[in-house]
Amino acid sequence: MPRLRLRVLLWTLTACVCSALPLDVPGLVYPHGDFVIRNLCKFCDLEDSTCDGADKCTSECKKTAICAAVDEVCVTIWRKNDSNVTMETLCHSPAVPLYGFMLDDYNNTECRMKEKKVLGSLFYLCSCSSEEECNNVIYFTEEKPTLSIPMVTAISLLPPLVIAVMVILAFYRYRVIRQKKLNEEWKKKKKRKHDCSDGCAIMTDDDQSDISSTVANNINHNLELLPIELDLQVGKGRFASVYKAKLKQSTAEQFETVAVKIFSYEEYASWKNEKDIFSDINLKHENILHFLTAEERKVDKQYWIITAYHALGNLQEYLTHHILSWDDLCYLGGSFARALAHLHSDHTPCGRPKVPIVHRDIKSSNILVKNDLTCCLCDFGLALRLDLSLSVDDLANSGQVGTARYMAPEVLESRINLENIESFKQSDVYSLALVLWEITSRCSAIGDVKDYVPPFGSKVGEHPCVESMKDSVVRDRGRPEIPNSWQKHEGLQLICSTITESWDHDPEARLTAQCVAERFSEIDQMDKLSQRSCSEEKISEDCSVSDDK
Ligand code: ADE
Repeated sequence: MPRLRLRVLLWTLTACVCSALPLDVPGLVYPHGDFVIRNLCKFCDLEDSTCDGADKCTSECKKTAICAAVDEVCVTIWRKNDSNVTMETLCHSPAVPLYGFMLDDYNNTECRMKEKKVLGSLFYLCSCSSEEECNNVIYFTEEKPTLSIPMVTAISLLPPLVIAVMVILAFYRYRVIRQKKLNEEWKKKKKRKHDCSDGCAIMTDDDQSDISSTVANNINHNLELLPIELDLQVGKGRFASVYKAKLKQSTAEQFETVAVKIFSYEEYASWKNEKDIFSDINLKHENILHFLTAEERKVDKQYWIITAYHALGNLQEYLTHHILSWDDLCYLGGSFARALAHLHSDHTPCGRPKVPIVHRDIKSSNILVKNDLTCCLCDFGLALRLDLSLSVDDLANSGQVGTARYMAPEVLESRINLENIESFKQSDVYSLALVLWEITSRCSAIGDVKDYVPPFGSKVGEHPCVESMKDSVVRDRGRPEIPNSWQKHEGLQLICSTITESWDHDPEARLTAQCVAERFSEIDQMDKLSQRSCSEEKISEDCSVSDDK
């Protein structure tokens, strides 16, 4: 065995050289300083073995050799035939086939056996490279795949990632379904008629559905002010001016039309009062101006109230330029009465408790006309919340407020009963009666319709003061004229009696706003019945004609 002898000689020689070197790893130092590591392998050539070829064995070889050539790797071959089991350990160059096989696993640091096909015997071969006799321990099992750090990270992150994606998808789906449901509900609501019989207020105005819900019925606490571009001035009151404006949407060209009521810094009290009144979520009603938000515009030293915009303007302007049909009168009058009844009420149409509010400046210019010819009440700058915490002093300090032309006799005389909060409501009802008179005076159902004149007309001047109104209303007990010619039909008669009962000199004798609203419902019922009987008459006439035939 000349090859074996040469190898052992080499191993002995190298071992001597190595022991003379200050290095404890096998290798050679070349004159130019490069250090080349060679493999240290078990090297017994062929030996009998007790290894059973299952799982893992050690070579039982006592000889270790530093491979002669730099490229040589450690190899172990395990063979089993009918008579014996052998183990062969050696160094070998992977560039050269060994027993007809290329060493394809020599880069491994462990020697893992692979079965090689040889007729008549089991033949297993493994190769490896390391400085630590890697062919001494041999494995017959597959190496468990080791996972790289990025792989481990990816695998461990996978479950939370999947859960997060599922949660996001579920949330997205929920939002989409909810939005769809809201849209459908909205469409259904829009289809419903103005019907109070179910006791729940329904918002039916198109303008109000579009308005950004993010700011609805709230104060804009954001530091960022709403992106609003003012347009035309559409109104001017004692404390503020009203502008049509564009509320810009997320995309540059899109906007919603809103109304902006601008108060100067001096009118803070009026702005605060209106904002506080609007902030009560229970005030929300289809016939009360839809509030979006209130803002302090520090740069311009202004306070803003942002609401829905109604293109038809206020009722006074509308009556000046339009003659109403009987249906228009019923719509406008009924919706206005419902607005005031809701304002005064201590519960919402759905039965939630609500603080009653009095307006104290009811007049036709404080009522807006919506596109469906129903009213919506606005301008709550003088409104008062009748909560239980209000003391008699608070009420007394609230003073004589409102517009003289529309002031009830007890307000003109400053003789309002402060002990009874109902008295404030009764004063509002007096003003309501004047507005109903204005509406009726412009309805074609009364016959000859004159030009629009405000209640008490020009008799009291354009802007009457309290004193001249006192003369007319308290001293002379004067009221706007209701000519007999107005009482053309049952419905008109009921409206006229509702007006006179609501402007009674005695506040206690006046109808409540709720009662006025119910009167309009009765009129509505009467109209429906008469329409039905008309159509029934028509059908029976038609039938009788056909019967005759
Ligand atoms: N005038 C006063 N307020 C208004 C509004 N919200 N819409 C249209 N005109 C108005």
